[in-house]
Amino acid sequence: MGTEHLSVPHGGVLRECGVPPEGAGSLRDQADSLPRLNLNARQMSDVELLAVGAVSPLTGFMGRDDYETVLREMRLKDGTVWTLPVVLGVGEERYRSLQGRTAVALCGPDGIVRAVLRITDRFSVDLEREALSVYRTKEQKHPGVAAMIERGPFLVGGEVQVIDLPSDRPFSDRRLTPRQTRAHFEREGWKTVVGFQTRNPVHRAHEYIQKCALETCDGLLLHPIVGETKSDDVPATVRMECYEALLKNCFPPHRVLLSVNPSAMHYAGPREAVHHAIVRKNYGCTHFIVGRDHAGVGSYYGPYDAQKIFSDFQSGELGITPVFFDSTFWCSECKQVVSSKTCPHPASDHRVFSGSAVREMLLRGEIPPPEFTHPKIAEILIKHYKSK
Ligand code: ADX
Repeated sequence: MGTEHLSVPHGGVLRECGVPPEGAGSLRDQADSLPRLNLNARQMSDVELLAVGAVSPLTGFMGRDDYETVLREMRLKDGTVWTLPVVLGVGEERYRSLQGRTAVALCGPDGIVRAVLRITDRFSVDLEREALSVYRTKEQKHPGVAAMIERGPFLVGGEVQVIDLPSDRPFSDRRLTPRQTRAHFEREGWKTVVGFQTRNPVHRAHEYIQKCALETCDGLLLHPIVGETKSDDVPATVRMECYEALLKNCFPPHRVLLSVNPSAMHYAGPREAVHHAIVRKNYGCTHFIVGRDHAGVGSYYGPYDAQKIFSDFQSGELGITPVFFDSTFWCSECKQVVSSKTCPHPASDHRVFSGSAVREMLLRGEIPPPEFTHPKIAEILIKHYKSK
């Protein structure tokens, strides 16, 4: 490492779908005469990702052709690697009423018009096929499959022009756009930046793999997801408090940037790992950490499926280097976090940890030991669980 330069965005250029402020007024006037679609929080996350260029080269919700090639080949119709459908579902009645329409106003949960969708596609899909191809299961208890079923089979696609985003979105001072994270990396002089995805409160395995990666990269982008997650995941406000504590207590200044990712979680394991990497590439990362069961849930995926999928692509076509980590655990003989690559001791000396294990411990009222979680972070989590 060391010769690379900040990643070019996926597809070559950052495609930000937000209209400049001088165009916003007239677009809002146009939107007033359009039919309206009320979006939920999950759909608004997608609108925000489109607005800031996080899902470049997408410029809107996918039409049928891109949807089909994404399902079949993990590519957009022009061949660009893309693994998750980014689609807008509407109810059946709305779907019928939009027949022949060329545009629709997209409103947030507050009822305010935020964007205009230029409809170029209206199509319905086979949910079972999508579930099997994206999530590798059709079980409705899989939270990604459940969200997809709730979204439904009726989709509208086309370019999106975002007028503005709500000004009261949480974590506003840590909600940097790809343009802003890239500017930060430039200012810091980082040539290599490793991205870290998370949806869980930080534990020692996270900290260990972050530090290992930071030994060879110039900077680390801590990029927790703050869009919708499943209901038993720890809320984003608490997770962010943990990350602020981590930053303050565990890393030197000028090596780490903490910023949120507005996306929702899909729990699509392997396919989502590639998606996560592409999004972080758009934020300027050159490298991306993929550990054990990345973006997995329950036992739907093998522990390294999310790493294996990267070999389905030619080197170079992703444009970001995955950094793989084996399962890491605490070894009472080594007295540190290790993996089977670095520890000679038997399993009886090992304590495996995961976000779910820490959560279960907290639910039982147990304080996670320091080898599991930094004491400052344990304090924050205990406060949260006691207040529940
Ligand atoms: S995820 O759904 O965002 O992947 P989580 O926040 O727990 O869940 O994980 C963040 C990253 O850390 C992922 O790359 C995951 O694979 C990795 N990771 C989490 N726990 C471990 C562990 N014990 N060993 C190795 N990697 C891990």
